[in-house]
Amino acid sequence: MTKVYSNIGRLNHVAIAVPDIMLASDMWHKALGANVSEPQTLPEHGVKVVFIDSPNTKVELLEPLNENSPISNFLKKNPNGGMHHICYEVSDLKSASLKLKAVGATILGNGNPKIGAHGNPVIFLKPSDFSGTLIELEEIK
Ligand code: CO
Repeated sequence: MTKVYSNIGRLNHVAIAVPDIMLASDMWHKALGANVSEPQTLPEHGVKVVFIDSPNTKVELLEPLNENSPISNFLKKNPNGGMHHICYEVSDLKSASLKLKAVGATILGNGNPKIGAHGNPVIFLKPSDFSGTLIELEEIK
């Protein structure tokens, strides 16, 4: 019997690490006319975030809250900031995880979903499996 696995859906967001979220927000607003949300602090993820909506997806600017934030390490290697991850929607994270394991791809952490910035379960995939790109999968029901 062929197993039916879930495949990626819409691109939900592109996340960009920045050293100064107010400076970055101001530039996106002034130069690109972007509609930038008020900053939100997400202590459980170690970041301050703003959301920039566009007709087909979102950009999230992420500033580390402290030295322990995973974004801090990224900024040590990329002091001006840079693309941190892309996030695809999936309808069934469990099925997506089974498919990843079946082809030998690695889910970061303990392999179990965490609750992401939008209140939905998410997993992150090992960048070396995907051309150096950190991919987040978010379950959207
Ligand atoms: Co994300």
